Parts: sequence; C-alpha cells; structure tokens
Amino acid sequence: MNILHSGHPLTRIGLGVTGGIAAYKAAELTRLWVKRGLSVQVLMTEAATRFVTPTTFQALSGKPVFTDLWDARPANAMGHIELGREVDALVVAPASANFLARLAQGFTDDLLSTVCLARECPLLVAPAMNRQMWANPATQRNVARLRDDGVVFLGPAWGDQACGEVGEGRMLEAEEIVAAVEFWAQPKILAGRRVLLTAGPTFEAIDPVRGITNLSSGKMGYALARAAAQAGAEVTLVSGPVGLPTPAGVQRIDVRSAADMLAAVEDVSARSEIFIAVAAVADYTPTAPLPEKLKKSTVALQLELMPTVDILARIAAGSNPPFCVGFAAESERVLEFAEAKRRRKKLPLIIANNARDAIGSDDNEVTLLDAAGAHALPRLPKEALARRLIEEIARRYLAVRGAAPDRGTP
Ligand code: CTP
Repeated sequence: MNILHSGHPLTRIGLGVTGGIAAYKAAELTRLWVKRGLSVQVLMTEAATRFVTPTTFQALSGKPVFTDLWDARPANAMGHIELGREVDALVVAPASANFLARLAQGFTDDLLSTVCLARECPLLVAPAMNRQMWANPATQRNVARLRDDGVVFLGPAWGDQACGEVGEGRMLEAEEIVAAVEFWAQPKILAGRRVLLTAGPTFEAIDPVRGITNLSSGKMGYALARAAAQAGAEVTLVSGPVGLPTPAGVQRIDVRSAADMLAAVEDVSARSEIFIAVAAVADYTPTAPLPEKLKKSTVALQLELMPTVDILARIAAGSNPPFCVGFAAESERVLEFAEAKRRRKKLPLIIANNARDAIGSDDNEVTLLDAAGAHALPRLPKEALARRLIEEIARRYLAVRGAAPDRGTP
C-alpha cells in the first residue's frame, strides 16, 4: 500500500468520527465532500454520538451511519471487514487522544477501531484535543508510532480551543481537511519540477488612484497553481491584483502592472521547467501615467496608450525556454484564432476557451491545441479542470523534456 499518496482518484471516503467537541466540524466536512460528488460512509464511536447525532450525518451523507460492532446491516454481519474494504481512504476527524492511544495499541473494542485495523485502504487522522493532551509525551509517543505505521496526520492546528486555552491541538477546519486530503490523494507527477504561472488581471496606472484593468478573477490561474503544487511541483505564482487566498505550498509574488509582471517572470523563468501564462495581461498601458490625481474638466480627455510586452512570447522566444503553455480567450473563431496565437508565440501547447464564458465564472470548457491538433475537454468546475490540465501539461512536458537536466538551482 502506498501511504504517501494513494495515486488513484478518491471517490469513496470512510469518515470516522470520535468523541470531541470538534465533531460538529465533521458534519460540515461531510457536506463539503458530498458537494464535491464523493460518497461518504460515516462511522461514529459511541462517544461521538453524544456530541452530534447519527441522524445529522445520515441526512448529510444520504447513507446509514454505523456505530455498533454488532450492527447486522452489512451483508454478512462482518461490518468491520466490509466497511473498510468499500472505501478508497478512511479519514478519522476528529481523532481524540483516546482514539489515537487505542489505535496505536491496536485495540478493537468498537466498530471504528476494528475497521481501522481490518482496512485495506490508507488511514488519515485529524487530531483534536486540548493543547496539553496533544503535547503530553504519551500522546506524542502514540503519534510517532502511528506515523511509523503509515498513518497520515492532518494537523492539528494552533489556535483558540473549546476549553478556553490557546495552543496546538485544535482540529483543522473542514475546508482545510478537504484540501489536505485532496493534496495527499494527488499522484506526484510533477515532483521535483519547478512551475511558474501568471494569473489575474494587470492594473495599468493612469494616475495615482485610477487605472485600466479587466475582469479576470484569477480563479483559473490560482486553481492551476494549486493543482501543480498538489502534483508535487515547486510552484511560483506571479499574480496581478486579485482577492484570492494563496494556495497551500505556493510561493506567490504580487505585481500590479504588465511591466512588473514581466520583470518578476523574467527573474524566475530561467530556473523553471514549465511556464503557464494564465494572466489576462493588459495589451496597452498609459504612455505617461500622471504623478498627481487627474482633475475633472469639461473638455474631452485624450489618453495615449502604448503596447505592453507580450510576456509569454518573450519567454518562449528565449534560448532554452521552459515548456511554455498559453491561454487564449477568444470571443469568435475560437480554435482558429487560438491556433494562430500558438504558432505566433511559438508554444508547444495553448488552451483555448470562449472569453465570454471563462472570465469570472466557476466552471470552464476548454480545447487543447498542440502540434498534433485539437483535443476538447468536457465542461468542468475550475478546480477539477485545473487538475486535468496539469495532467495534460505534465504528460506533454515529460514526453519532450522528461529526461532534461535541471535548469539551475532556485
Ligand atoms: N500574454 C502575456 N503577455 C501579454 C499578453 C498576453 O503573457 N502582454 C499571454 C496570456 O497570459 C495568455 C496568452 O498570452 O497565455 C494569450 O493572451 P491573449 O490576451 O488571449 O492574447 P493576446 O496575445 O493579447 O492577443 P489578443 O488580445 O489580440 O487576442
């Protein structure tokens, strides 16, 4: 069993809930996974049912909840064997100090601990306890032993605790557990590779408080940065002004104008193996931005603009460029214009989509264009599409550059 990452898609999750106040966060976790289309089988300890009822989990997961080793519902009344075989991963959240201790010893005195022992799938745990219980040498001994046994730990986090104290031991938030499990499940196809991305709009100053920008939300570029990091790459994201959080494990460089973006990209691209240009870079910028705020007047205002540098074309034209991937948002003759752009910018791959469709929305439909022709992908939410695109990019990159030497140290 590969414990570091499962390397196969996660569709069925077993969620073990143990007794602790953080059990309420497991309800939200169930909801988030179900919303993402996963099937969630909830198993609760007796103590957990004192914090949240099985009915809550049953309603959220749409499946009966199991709590009892002697439950006759699984087909052959061997629930502990069957339940652990029907899931791709078992996640215990919250995992109490007592549960970790029993797990470390191999106890099988209730359904959840028995399923943990009888399972064939990987086991992940999200501890939740008071900071002193977490720091206690007994707990730390159990954690070390479980890590040795291949159990994957998600957290705990540092922060306010239900008991009123502050410290390490609180369970990760439901969204953080979703992201951590997703990260863990991704095959690390880009391990050891450095990926540079641009994302978001640029902002071209007219005066100190005004400027020209566009409606790019940055969502696609950020989703690709996250997916590249989840695939094991070392990721640098050069971002225009957006209101998005930095994806875990991604190094972010904030820029404002096309010129700033070019400078940051030129700095990092020489030591990147892959460059994915997702930013909606302004094609023009005011020739002479005003040093002071422009005053209102009754006469027409003339604004002179000059073209910006095409960052992607500049990098692709360099000697020994990274594997360059472009995006083409077109409002008409999408494939024709995108292919022309690919050839003009000398790119091995361009990802074409409809500009009206893509900007700001949560899902996207794209076509990949490379030297072999066009390859359409189905409409997908941006997060799922990003993972698929990273796979497609990695496959093409590895085919041409798989054995290429390192491009210098970071
Ligand atoms: N791009 C870039 N630098 C620019 C303009 C575009 O790096 N100054 C990149 C984008 O990030 C994208 C690709 O080039 O990956 C295509 O961008 P797009 O705006 O669709 O194309 P343009 O070359 O600007 O052509 P046009 O606006 O005429 O369609």
